[in-house]
Parts: sequence; C-alpha cells; structure tokens
Amino acid sequence: MLNIIILAAGKGTRMRSNKPKVLHPVAGKPMLFHVIDTAAALNADKIIVVTGHEAELLEATVSQTYDSVTFVRQTTQEGTGHAVKQALPLLSEGADVLILYGDSPLIQSEHLQPLLNAVSDNSMAMLTTVLDDATGYGRIIRSANDNGNIDSVVEQKDANDQQKNILEINTGVFAGKANHFSTWIPLIKNDNSQGEYYLPDLIPLANCNGSAVKAVVTTDNETNLGANDRKQLAELESIYRRKAIDKLFSAGANIIDPTRLDIRGNVQVGQDVSFDINVILQGDVTLGDGVQVGAHCTLINCTIGANTVIEPYSLIEGSIVAESCNIGPYARLRPDSVLHSGSKVGNFVEMKKSTLGQGSKANHFTYLGDTTVGKNVNIGAGTITCNYDGANKHQTVIGDNAFIGSNSSLVAPVTIGELATIGAGSTVTGNIEAGGLTLSRSPSKHLSKWQRPAKKQKS
Ligand code: UD1
Ligand code: CA
Repeated sequence: MLNIIILAAGKGTRMRSNKPKVLHPVAGKPMLFHVIDTAAALNADKIIVVTGHEAELLEATVSQTYDSVTFVRQTTQEGTGHAVKQALPLLSEGADVLILYGDSPLIQSEHLQPLLNAVSDNSMAMLTTVLDDATGYGRIIRSANDNGNIDSVVEQKDANDQQKNILEINTGVFAGKANHFSTWIPLIKNDNSQGEYYLPDLIPLANCNGSAVKAVVTTDNETNLGANDRKQLAELESIYRRKAIDKLFSAGANIIDPTRLDIRGNVQVGQDVSFDINVILQGDVTLGDGVQVGAHCTLINCTIGANTVIEPYSLIEGSIVAESCNIGPYARLRPDSVLHSGSKVGNFVEMKKSTLGQGSKANHFTYLGDTTVGKNVNIGAGTITCNYDGANKHQTVIGDNAFIGSNSSLVAPVTIGELATIGAGSTVTGNIEAGGLTLSRSPSKHLSKWQRPAKKQKS
C-alpha cells in the first residue's frame, strides 16, 4: 500500500503571477500534473495534494483532469511539517508514504523506487544529492558512525558557517511508514529562525525512537530541481527538452539541431525519423520509421505512418496519417483528419474532420471540411467544400477515382459518385451520379473588337 502526499500549498511569490505556481507549465503541462503522473506511475493507492494558496482554483483545475486525487487544505502556510500534518488523517494504516513537491516536475518513478525500497518498519528514507553550490537548501547532517544514516537536516537560515559548507542537501523527497509520520509529526516544534514546522525535524525524533533515516543519494541532480521563478521554470523546460531529445536519439532519430526541437509531451519514434529545425511536438505524438519532418512544423496529438514526408511549415493536430503520405509545405490538418496511405495534401490545403482515401491528392489551395474522399481521387487546385450554411455543418462524400476540377465549390450536403468528373470552376449543388462529366460553368465569350483601357501617355 502506497500513499503519496504532494505539497502544493505555497504561494510562489517569486513567479509574480496570478496563477498558482504549481499550475505553471513545463512541456505544455502544469508542473503539478507531472508530479501526479509520477505518483500514478508508482501505482499509488492514494494521491493526496495539500493545497492552500488559491486552493479552489487549484483543486478545480486538477479535478478536471484527474478523478483519483484527494485534496486537503492547509489554510496557513506554517512549513512543510505543518503541510504534511494536514494529510495525516487521510493516510491508510500500514501504508508506505512518499512526500513529493508540486513544483518539482522532473522527478520520475524510477528515481523514487530505490527510496521506497529503503523504507521498513524501523527505517525511513530521504532522497539527497550533492551540489556544487548548496546555498538555500537544507543541509544533510550525516550520522557520525558512517552508516549511511541521517542525524538531521539544517535549513540554510539556521545553519552555522561549518554547516553551510556541507554540499549534500535534502531534495525534499522523503518516505516512511504512515505511523512514522503520524507519530512524530505532531511532536515537531517551530523553534527555528523562520518559526515554521520543518518536516525534516522529524528525523531526530525518529532516531530517538529507534528508527533510522537512510540517505538515498541520487547523482541525477537535475531531476530534483524545482521552479521558484520564471527563469528556473525555463531551465526546467530546457532540461525536460534535453532529456526527451536524448530518448529520441537513442530510438534512432536524426535531429539536425537538438536545441531547435521542442518536445512538450510523449513522443514515440521509429528508426530513421528525421527532424529539421524549429519543430514543435506536443501531446501524444507517434512517428513511424523513416518519417521526415521539415522545418517549422508543429505536430500535436497525432500519429504519422512510416515514410511519410511532412514538408516545412505544416501544422497537424489530432490527426491520423498512414504510411507514405506527403504533407505540405504549408498544410493544415485540423482535428479528426485521416490520411490513408500514399495520399497527398499540398500547400495551403486545410482539412477538418475529413478523410482522404488511399492515393488521393489535394495538392493546392483547398478546404476539405466534414468530407470523406475515396481512393485515387484528384482534388483540383482551389476546390472548396462549402460545409457550413451559417448554422449547421454538412457532409461531402466523394467516390473512388473521381476528378474534381480546379476551383470547384462543392455545396454540402453533397455526394459525388465514383469516377465522376467535375469540370473546373463548377459550383455543385446536388448529388452527382457515378461517371460522366458535370459542369456548371458559363461558357467563355470572345469579343474580338474589344479594346483594353489604356493609360494616358505622360506628356
Ligand atoms: C525545503 C526543505 C529543504 C530542502 C528544499 C528542497 C523544509 C523545511 N525544507 O525548503 O530542506 O532542501 O525544500 O527544495 O522542508 N509547502 C507547503 N506548505 C507550507 C510550506 C511549503 O505546502 O507551509 C510546499 C511548497 O508549496 C513547496 C514545498 O512545500 O512545494 C517546499 O516548500 P519551500 O518553501 O519551497 O521549501 P524550501 O524552503 O525550499
Ligand atoms: Ca523551494
């Protein structure tokens, strides 16, 4: 049984923001959500978030995405020990308890498992790390007999000069049994320079009562970083990006310039996927073997099949693209676009809730909305599906092997049969049967005597 308490009551003054600190995003997702996801990845039986500053907004925002999170309020922020105290009544008997911070979003379940493994009935565990500059952090006072245990933590503001030289710090991540916390937290005092109840002050109490607190040292300093201000937030973003890009490199991706690829979500790539510069990948993005993504493309929640080429400046959102398709340059696939294999969507083509069948092409200046296109259809340049009558959206269906001439307007609802040909410039207002030619264009006139207006000659 595992209970995880996430501390998120702090004000975050240094953010200078109306938004609660833990809702500021890293990789397009609120910091707190990263921590909740990590807690869920550890299969926590209970996830308790301690809220305080802007509690209502915070709880409402979290509840929109997560239904298995329990909240507890800390109405006055009197320190980390006081924050955890609010959650004590909710702990399950006999559970392992893990404390995380809502503003430290980079921590992953694999960093936490060793800490949980170190917890037993008579031992707690604290995640520590060694920094080049430990200023501001709680310093770890190791036990004199060198047994890997911790005697106490001294906060920056309470530390003497000798203690300030200690480079091993408390990351804030702490674990123990439910009864360790419920027995000793109420005994913590606030007789320190900040007048706060410090959670790490539980350590000497545990030690006095026969429980050791083990130091579990992590060498991956970056995963414990938190964001107190905007600059640190941007640093977390770049660390996240670098780690995500390292994963893509390991998977066999070719990235022209890793500093110019932004990853804001979960990206899966096959082998030999290539990224040109200034690409943004957001949400859940899956790219098959050999996909090529051109410069300045944005891909949001989409799946792209093997060997599809996405030319520069394309925006693809909420779409499924099969293998060997061609997209762009300057294509826009809005949500619920589906491209079957070998189809092509060219420059200045917009699709929305539309399907393009196998081998079909819409190569230039086209809008396909609420449209189903069959196989091997040619959609001529400038074709527009008129799907909206000002109140309702209507469907267009185009059969296999149809040919839609350039600059046609297809006024939905409309169905165009297989092998039908629509002459260029037509406005189609009713269903068209299979085969044959449909035209709705006025014939050209020729006026041989007509004079083009001439500009006045300059005198
Ligand atoms: C804390 C630790 C310090 C550690 C550092 C790591 C204590 C006393 N100090 O210091 O040893 O090195 O984190 O970053 O634990 N919070 C509440 N309610 C409160 C106070 C804090 O919910 O009353 C939350 C904050 O929102 C934040 C977290 O607890 O998420 C840490 O609080 P913060 O004030 O940043 O602690 P530090 O002084 O940085
Ligand atoms: Ca802090």
